[in-house]
Amino acid sequence: MGLNVTHLERRIGSLVETDLETLLSGEAVQEIRDLLEERGVLVFRGCEMDDEQQLAFTRTFGDVYDAKSGAVYKVSFDKKDSPDHWHYSFGTMSWHIDRTDTDLPPFASILRGVRLAPEGGDTMFANTYAAYDDLFETDQRLIENLKVVHTVESSFREVFPDPTEDQLATWRSHDDKIQPLVWHHSSGRKSLITSTSGCRVIGMDEDEGEALLERLLHWAGQSQYVYRHKWQPGDVVMWDNTGVMHKVMPFDHECGRLLHRTTVAGSEPFDPRRDASMAA
Ligand SMILES: [Fe+2]
Repeated sequence: MGLNVTHLERRIGSLVETDLETLLSGEAVQEIRDLLEERGVLVFRGCEMDDEQQLAFTRTFGDVYDAKSGAVYKVSFDKKDSPDHWHYSFGTMSWHIDRTDTDLPPFASILRGVRLAPEGGDTMFANTYAAYDDLFETDQRLIENLKVVHTVESSFREVFPDPTEDQLATWRSHDDKIQPLVWHHSSGRKSLITSTSGCRVIGMDEDEGEALLERLLHWAGQSQYVYRHKWQPGDVVMWDNTGVMHKVMPFDHECGRLLHRTTVAGSEPFDPRRDASMAA
């Protein structure tokens, strides 16, 4: 069976109807990759998977990211479901790109709805390629070579504006990471690296830098760049982490909502120029 594709929003998101066999055989992998790069988010509906099948589907795109720490990651606010990671879920409530704390982020993530919230808990995705393309040229020139400091603390500050000493100590135990503001992709296209983890612009006055980052985050989160996914049981949602930022909408954290995530390793560093200079 081929892929039956319906666009969900004008500039982001497509519904892909097919069967499990087509997804697992890898026969449509190039078609799906191309569609993912063009549309940012793909929703596969009607092909129920278990964990093993989700992993097999993930492997059709390449290596599984960070396989050592468990290839199927449980996304939950419940300590029982996710004893080591549940507290990180709070950082997913603000716009972010996964792993801005690393040089080489994952290419794509695949989320499967296992137990859904009775109310709320939609996942929002925003197309950071389209948001870059639409900037005024003056802004594109302004940000072309800017670098931004990303911190774990900044990822959590929006959700916890008055953190405890313990929270602050935990957040500050992680190293800061400097990333460019514009992602120069090997395809020649550019996208914004907008993420709540970004807090300071190198070489810019602190307030001015913060205002610029806030303005760009707000810009990229405008409705014309956003697809809002309302979960249905068995939904499998895949997004391109190199051209999409995402966040979860509020819901009752006691309701047992559980998603299983698998991740495809990336090949595009945030900063190809840094990598080139390191190799030299
Ligand atoms: Fe995330």
